[in-house]
Amino acid sequence: MTEALLKVKNLHTEFRTEGGIVKAVDDVSFEVNAGEIFALVGESGCGKSVTALSIMGLIPNPPGEITSGSIEFDGVDLLSLPSREMRAIRGSRIGMIFQEPMSSLNPVLTIESQLAEPLKIHENLSGNVANDRAKELIDMVGIPDSATRMKQYPHELSGGQRQRIMIAMAMACSPQLLIADEATTALDVTIQAQILDLMQDVTSQTGASLLIITHNLGIVARYADRVGVMYAGKLREVSDASDLYAEPHHPYTVGLLQSVPRLDADKGSPLSPIAGEIPDLTDLPEGCAFNPRCEWAVDKCRIEQPTLEETKPGKQVACFEHETVALRV
Ligand SMILES: Nc1ncnc2c1ncn2[C@@H]1O[C@H](COP(=O)(O)OP(=O)(O)OP(=O)(O)O)[C@@H](O)[C@H]1O
Ligand SMILES: [Mg+2]
Repeated sequence: MTEALLKVKNLHTEFRTEGGIVKAVDDVSFEVNAGEIFALVGESGCGKSVTALSIMGLIPNPPGEITSGSIEFDGVDLLSLPSREMRAIRGSRIGMIFQEPMSSLNPVLTIESQLAEPLKIHENLSGNVANDRAKELIDMVGIPDSATRMKQYPHELSGGQRQRIMIAMAMACSPQLLIADEATTALDVTIQAQILDLMQDVTSQTGASLLIITHNLGIVARYADRVGVMYAGKLREVSDASDLYAEPHHPYTVGLLQSVPRLDADKGSPLSPIAGEIPDLTDLPEGCAFNPRCEWAVDKCRIEQPTLEETKPGKQVACFEHETVALRV
């Protein structure tokens, strides 16, 4: 078996807020293998971005804090690294693409300087060599006329082009892991597909792993090898992507799948959103946090918290009733 590139173990990340302690990431464990595309999915506020920011060492403290757990990347324990070393890893070996490119691109710097700068810092390239490489990166992400683009500022590019520049920046130092947090959500569907195809291509060319964070199950089906389904700060199901659709074992996964439109469904057949609301993370229900919304919940679910357990090879589920759930769907 190949050794995992990223190992997140029993991660707990909390925020101290006026309303109380928010357990944004609550005992999360998963692994991403080399060259793999792993997707984290779940409704808004379930802790996907906080998981990514914990890996990147970007949790604002205060109010946030990683209170326990470990994050191992290529054999290195990231949580014990001095901040200078973590910065070096963040710039070069782990790249991240955020949802809103304008907040990550500097509006007063040209594309050339934003792309070339990290290469000078992390790869020790001289000015000219770094600029040539920056041009290559613009070509790589499929933006025509790279020589002109280099001299432009972010506002002179379209949203899709800015997102491509973000990918170029994240890929500049050939990272082993690329984290894309809702990187395409703001774009129209055709451009989304182009950008995702591009991320898939560039990572498969370099052998990098890709951690895709999304609430779009269509993206998961098309791109991911494996999936982690999060709800209220915890992973509820970890599965091969194809198996997740064929055989969801967690009621929340079943609910998510039933709430997305399908081309093969009868015309006019209603979508069924998951009933009820996402719980307040400062005031979670007793037992399994999903129990108030769950049609399979039994008494035990209202008292005890299920832990993630292997139900078959490649599948982990945190649900006392997973056998019944698997039989019924
Ligand atoms: N800086 C912060 N201060 C206080 N609470 C925070 C902070 N950042 C995140 N949280 C809380 O942590 C929880 C998880 O947030 P997170 O951003 O990870 O959600 P998400 O799954 O990425 O949702 P979305 O799909 O909307 O991006 C939320 O309840 C959020 O309010
Ligand atoms: Mg998010």
